[in-house]
Amino acid sequence: MPENFNSNYSRYYDLLYKNKDYKSEAEYIAKLIRSVHPQTKNILELGAGTGNHAAILCNDGFTVTGLERSAEMVAKAKEKKIEGFTPVVGDIQDYSIDQKFDAVISLFHVISYLTSNTALIDCFNTTNSHLNKGGVFIFDVWYTPAVYVQGSETRIKKMEDDDIEITRLAQPEAHYNLNVIDVNYEIIIQDKKTRLAEQYPEKHPMRHFSIPEINLLALLTGFEVIKTEEFLTAANPGENTWGVCFVLQKK
Ligand SMILES: C[S@@+](CC[C@H](N)C(=O)[O-])C[C@H]1O[C@@H](n2cnc3c(N)ncnc32)[C@H](O)[C@@H]1O
Repeated sequence: MPENFNSNYSRYYDLLYKNKDYKSEAEYIAKLIRSVHPQTKNILELGAGTGNHAAILCNDGFTVTGLERSAEMVAKAKEKKIEGFTPVVGDIQDYSIDQKFDAVISLFHVISYLTSNTALIDCFNTTNSHLNKGGVFIFDVWYTPAVYVQGSETRIKKMEDDDIEITRLAQPEAHYNLNVIDVNYEIIIQDKKTRLAEQYPEKHPMRHFSIPEINLLALLTGFEVIKTEEFLTAANPGENTWGVCFVLQKK
């Protein structure tokens, strides 16, 4: 969970990402799942947030269980009353769900939130044990070559709805020996009527990965890597590919 995490993150999450193309992303994932494991019916989503991908996947005929560490995000997801979607509070590093799944997915760089080798190995092992025979684990992560080639620059994002304006400043701090970038956010929320504003910081440590690193993790945790491609475009990853999607199959 991000440091300085508070309920504002979940309160404003959907507004911050209202222009994110969840529909295309969920359709891409559904297509990928059907191409590598056509019999897939039930999906476990790690770091499901407020259920935006799950809503589209459930509408497409899958059932989805969404594991999410933030109780506030889970509450938001429950408010949406998505048929076929069960959001639950839990940590993706170490979880126990009394069910096995055909596919486990983790979207929008959630695996990059696991910054230590121990956390990653725990997550991959636990995920393996929750998959049916031949089941698949699909996730996207920050890709090391792009992080180094493009660098990570300060960014500003502004969003608004009828009531509030959000301004989010993101300042990255690289830890080169850890493959981790701390994304330091400063978030300002202003009420449009009263013009009163609140401001708070948030720190998201994000790990980036090379392909051999994920291949090694897969080897250690009982998976075979069956696809490695740019998220959404399916292109070969290159120095400008920020998000790489990996498809692992349980051995
Ligand atoms: C960038 S958001 C992505 C949410 C959702 N997948 C989406 O695409 O909208 C990252 C999410 O991962 C969750 N998360 C991070 N680390 C986690 C962990 N160890 N266990 C469970 N959830 C975690 C955060 O609480 C947050 O909701």
